[in-house]
Amino acid sequence: MIHLKTQEEIELIRESNQLVSKTLAEVARVIVPGVTTLELDGVAEEYIRSQGAVPGFLGYKGYPKTLCTSVNQQVVHGIPSSYVLKEGDIISIDCGVLYNGFYGDSAYTFAVGEISEAVRSLLQTTRAALFKSLEQAVAGKRTGDIGYAVQNYCEKNGYSVVRELVGHGIGKGLHEAPEVPNYGKRGQGVRLQEGMVLCIEPMINMGRKEIVHSPDGWTVSTADHLPSAHFELCIAVGSNGPDILSTFDYIEKTDHATKI
Ligand code: MF3
Ligand code: CO
Repeated sequence: MIHLKTQEEIELIRESNQLVSKTLAEVARVIVPGVTTLELDGVAEEYIRSQGAVPGFLGYKGYPKTLCTSVNQQVVHGIPSSYVLKEGDIISIDCGVLYNGFYGDSAYTFAVGEISEAVRSLLQTTRAALFKSLEQAVAGKRTGDIGYAVQNYCEKNGYSVVRELVGHGIGKGLHEAPEVPNYGKRGQGVRLQEGMVLCIEPMINMGRKEIVHSPDGWTVSTADHLPSAHFELCIAVGSNGPDILSTFDYIEKTDHATKI
């Protein structure tokens, strides 16, 4: 069942997502070679709690941390650990909060120091694919229009789209209906309506699309060990275009060396 949101509810979801967006920027400030992913998690948790919110992923289906920190060939759901970031790594930071009864959820893939041009292109293409797909978040279009936009753009650039993990509705639940695949056919899938709030989150691989699951029960990695990128924004479906509820501006409008 799809929960359509009122404008008042959308404003609350915007607040949750603005907090997530600011948390990602706080984490960005401390991403340097030598920092552990566990330290990044501490920065995020402390900031979220200082704002009167609670981490949205912590305890969700037993997830043990505030952030998902997915490095290099890890696609999503990497668990913060004693892993020390090194020059040339990329790291997807995925963050959720629960604030005033509503979830926010967004992600950005950062560069650690200097990264190769090939990897930078993967990140820039994935980010651009997300923004292209957002244009499809218009009442009357379908989830397949969003998925097609991501898939067409990324495959044209020689990358592949992870199939097993998808975007989702969000609100009082972290994951609500409908699913929002990053692949699909135009005109197919669930019809979009005003009041739907969706997280769109392309996971794009440099090599093949196949993934493997870690014995830790969470971490998803590419089967071929090549890098993967992940960007996520939350939007409300509008009659003319999307109302984008989270933002990368806090990351990108300040001078973080990590931005792509
Ligand atoms: N953005 C991720 C997702 O939508 C966050 C989930 S991590 C979890 O799947 F730990 F909370 F499951
Ligand atoms: Co999500």
